Amino acid sequence: MELLDTLNRPLHDLRISVTDRCNFRCTYCMPSEIFGRDYQFMPQDQLLSFEEIERLARVFVGLGARKLRLTGGEPLMRRDLESLISQLAAIPGVEDLAMTTNGSFPLARLESLKAAGLKRVSVSLDALDDETFMRMNDVDFPVQRVLDWVEASAAAGLGPVKVNMVVQRGVNEQAVLPMARYFKEKGHILRLIEYMDVGASNGWRLDDVVSARELRDLIHAELPIEPLEPNYRGEVANRYRYLDGEGEIGIIASVSQPFCGDCSRARLSADGKLYTCLFAIGGADLRSMLREGASDDELTEAIRGVWQKRADRYSELRSAATRDLPKVEMSYIGG
Ligand code: GTP
Ligand code: 5AD
Ligand code: SF4
Ligand code: SF4
Repeated sequence: MELLDTLNRPLHDLRISVTDRCNFRCTYCMPSEIFGRDYQFMPQDQLLSFEEIERLARVFVGLGARKLRLTGGEPLMRRDLESLISQLAAIPGVEDLAMTTNGSFPLARLESLKAAGLKRVSVSLDALDDETFMRMNDVDFPVQRVLDWVEASAAAGLGPVKVNMVVQRGVNEQAVLPMARYFKEKGHILRLIEYMDVGASNGWRLDDVVSARELRDLIHAELPIEPLEPNYRGEVANRYRYLDGEGEIGIIASVSQPFCGDCSRARLSADGKLYTCLFAIGGADLRSMLREGASDDELTEAIRGVWQKRADRYSELRSAATRDLPKVEMSYIGG
């Protein structure tokens, strides 16, 4: 029987954070004042090994997960990620195997990632001009290298490539149209993401969010668009096509039009905790179970139990009452 949570949502999607580290310090995700030299990242022995991740992924697939996504932090910070990918790709029942990356690693990696069995990449990029992008990534990383990564990903067969742009008012709003024009022209799917109140360190304010409505209007005024049907139940992005016949763009309205009703995503943190919401305060400690010798059946039952009790819908409830609750960082739980 299909595993459903208390709101009848299946477990379809497993997002695996393989590290909490990143070589960028995006101001909305890992602000350098907090993630500085002295910041304590997870010690090596607390990270799940690739064997442990593979074993858990198998159990999740047994419970209905079909789509796996590697995230972080920056997943490519983890050495020999290709070997994990090939282990995951070999699990029967895995239909989709994707990775979210900042596109800063050497292009040669794309061939080995593809060869290992990776199917798709999504690349984060917040502006087309260096001044804005460098201010946001805070490590002076240039735009062109990410654009090269996007092109090389498509050329390596890791498309359709999605480019994720978090839009913050007064920071990179002006970059939205240039990004839309550029990626329409290049044939990649840009996704504009409402800036969310994840974690506790980015100093989020509702006023900083450029709403999906505003984003749609901004695009539509220059490059007319119309809505498309979702690709699948629970798709995060609202899809649009350009009316001149070329290209697609997505808008992710996590704040203004939450999509919790269809949320089928489980998240596994790099230290082996199972989170049932991006905004969860705590997660079930699967690593301890693994290291204490639990059987696959015991792991299956533990995960089933957590999912059957799941009632999360933070974004729908986001309110004065929930806003001040403690939260875990997105770099830890996986973006
Ligand atoms: P596809 O598999 O290509 O459809 O990707 P996806 O829709 O799963 O999107 P992706 O994983 O690239 O997520 C894009 C962005 O959407 C994330 O970086 C988050 O900002 C946001 N997002 C993804 N999942 C969730 C979620 O469960 N809740 C909320 N509130 N936001 C999410
Ligand atoms: N709001 C929205 N998306 C965020 N991401 C990280 N922090 C936030 C935030 N505060 C997402 C971005 C990035 C991915 C790794 O995580 O989409 O591309
Ligand atoms: Fe790193 Fe992505 Fe977070 Fe930027 S958004 S700091 S690239 S994990
Ligand atoms: Fe899913 Fe939680 Fe995001 Fe809602 S807020 S869509 S329940 S992860």
